Amino acid sequence: MTATQSDKNTDQLQPERYFAPVPDETEAYDLPVTGTLPTELAGRYFRNGPNPLPGDPSGHWFTGIGMLHGVRIAGGKAEWYRNRWVKTARLAGERFMDENGRRNLAVNSANTHIIEHGGKLLALCEVGFPYQVTPELDTVGPVDFGGRLTTAMTAHPKQDPVTGELHFFGYGFRPPFLTYHRLSASGELVHSAEIDVPASTMMHDFAITENYVIWLDLPLVFDHTLLERGMPYEWRDAYGARLGVMRKDSTKVQWFDVDPCYILHVVTRSRTPRAGSWWTLSATADDRGTRFGARSVVRSKSETTSSTRRRRWASARCTAGRSTLPAGPSASSSSTIVASNSPLSTKAGPACPTGTSTP
Ligand SMILES: [Fe+2]
Repeated sequence: MTATQSDKNTDQLQPERYFAPVPDETEAYDLPVTGTLPTELAGRYFRNGPNPLPGDPSGHWFTGIGMLHGVRIAGGKAEWYRNRWVKTARLAGERFMDENGRRNLAVNSANTHIIEHGGKLLALCEVGFPYQVTPELDTVGPVDFGGRLTTAMTAHPKQDPVTGELHFFGYGFRPPFLTYHRLSASGELVHSAEIDVPASTMMHDFAITENYVIWLDLPLVFDHTLLERGMPYEWRDAYGARLGVMRKDSTKVQWFDVDPCYILHVVTRSRTPRAGSWWTLSATADDRGTRFGARSVVRSKSETTSSTRRRRWASARCTAGRSTLPAGPSASSSSTIVASNSPLSTKAGPACPTGTSTP
């Protein structure tokens, strides 16, 4: 990497510049289009990301209130754009814990993802309830699926392409530290099961295959004594690192110790490492129950000037030995786990803001 490129990259990470918060809500109609929009392309594109209120420094890029952006495209036109903060209980000033010391799960930033499931648009943040919003991005309110959801909801649920069910989990700062959930295709919470893990860790993502769930129990451990510094997590080698495989219809997990590493995101397909942005950790789960393996982390060529943490991640080897999984149907499946060196490093922007599209 040349000095010029390095300077440019450093410059782009200055939040007061390219990643400065949007100061207000706005909307615009009949937007100018550069080039041509295919007339077959019709729908709405939404994205979400942390966006602190003006004059309210959040202290961390992960903690700003979620702001939704949307564009409506139809008939070769960009009909409108609008942006709205998610009007969460946190934005209203409610407290994280209630007067009885219980977690108020409606108090969160709803700032990480937006999905559509069961006819609902949901803004997600992994430390609380999802927030339903309208197709025009007005906030409806927190969703607990008729009182059945009693934990937070990950921002990265997985939809089963065959059944239409939505698989997700919630992690807690107190027991139960991890709970697995499943929504029906119509959006009813039909299954919840506690999963036994030693402590509360930042479990940002997970994976599913046709028949299995893969858990990432990694050494970024929650510690309430760190709350004053903003982000109450600490890397602890002593915690160890494990990948767990569980049949979807069971709560029995087979754990595989791996060398300490952290995996932020999982995808279920291969992806070419990008220079300066991605490492790839491949995991293969054979549903016939014969093996589970995770290849070593791959570092992209241009990462020779990386930080210590990057080197730690890059040098981590996550190798699980051969073992026998609970017997299952014969279909094989595989997933590829992609870990970013930093959530700020992708072109998507801070705190892995992600988008969804809907008619
Ligand atoms: Fe994410």
